[in-house]
Amino acid sequence: MLADGTEVPLLGLGVWQVPDGPECVDAVRWALDAGYRHIDTAQVYGNEASVGKALKESGVDREDIYLTTKFLPRSKDPVHEAEESLRRLGVDHVDLYLVHWPAGGPEWAWPGMERAAELGYARSIGVSNFNTDDLAAVSAIAERQPVVDQVHFNPHAFRRALLEDCGRRGIALEAYSPLGTGSVLKDATVAEIAADLGRTSAQVLLRWCIQRGIPVIPKSVHRERIEQNGQIFDFELPADAMARLDGLDETGGTGKALESNWW
Ligand SMILES: NC(=O)c1ccc[n+]([C@@H]2O[C@H](COP(=O)([O-])OP(=O)(O)OC[C@H]3O[C@@H](n4cnc5c(N)ncnc54)[C@H](OP(=O)(O)O)[C@@H]3O)[C@@H](O)[C@H]2O)c1
Repeated sequence: MLADGTEVPLLGLGVWQVPDGPECVDAVRWALDAGYRHIDTAQVYGNEASVGKALKESGVDREDIYLTTKFLPRSKDPVHEAEESLRRLGVDHVDLYLVHWPAGGPEWAWPGMERAAELGYARSIGVSNFNTDDLAAVSAIAERQPVVDQVHFNPHAFRRALLEDCGRRGIALEAYSPLGTGSVLKDATVAEIAADLGRTSAQVLLRWCIQRGIPVIPKSVHRERIEQNGQIFDFELPADAMARLDGLDETGGTGKALESNWW
């Protein structure tokens, strides 16, 4: 449950780097068929139209799907860009609209995000790639507080200070790149824990987040992986496995959202 009273499904499909067209339509359809009810896209991914097509073709009620898109902060107006996103997605609102990264500072886009929410374009608004100090800055000027900070988060990037700061502020940390864009799947400790439990490394990494109540949005364009990544609600990581995974952190428990910015 988010601070604004809405609920976000813990498992979503991420579609960064999935080309617009049949590959994206298929991935979203397979995810919905496998029981996912949460899709994470962004203006900059260039595939909102395919996400919208898949939602429509799936026959799943719009109200049962949690849909996130993100304002590209190279543009100027979150309201206008939300209208464009809704047109491409073929929906009348998204569930979550995020400032994709704090380009040009953490505050300037926020009044436009609030306006987009007031207009009914987004049920919830939040941020992404915001450090603890960025969260403090936006919170200080917000009339409506952000409810999500979507950040790079997995056992190699266990940003404990950021997670704790989000907790204090009533902001849900959402984990992007929960598999490290594939790189953390190769970790020997993760593989060992997976073998002990008779699970896959991907399932272990996703479970590490959801066991803490942190939503995850793994990306795959392969049907069997999408299905496998969805099978994370029928087992538990024992406390010693959680602790071993926690110990893989390479960030020193940072309050930063990223080690180096791309903007
Ligand atoms: N807000 C932001 O700035 C931001 C930044 C990055 C990501 N994100 C979001 O987070 C989502 C996920 O992050 P991500 O795309 O960086 O990567 P990820 O989900 O951490 O990992 C995806 C990679 O792992 C592979 N994979 C997935 N499941 C697998 C499995 N079961 N076994 C083996 N390999 C598997 C995928 O390959 P295949 O596709 O070939 O299966 C892909 O190469 C993105 O799609 C996006 O929605 C947001």
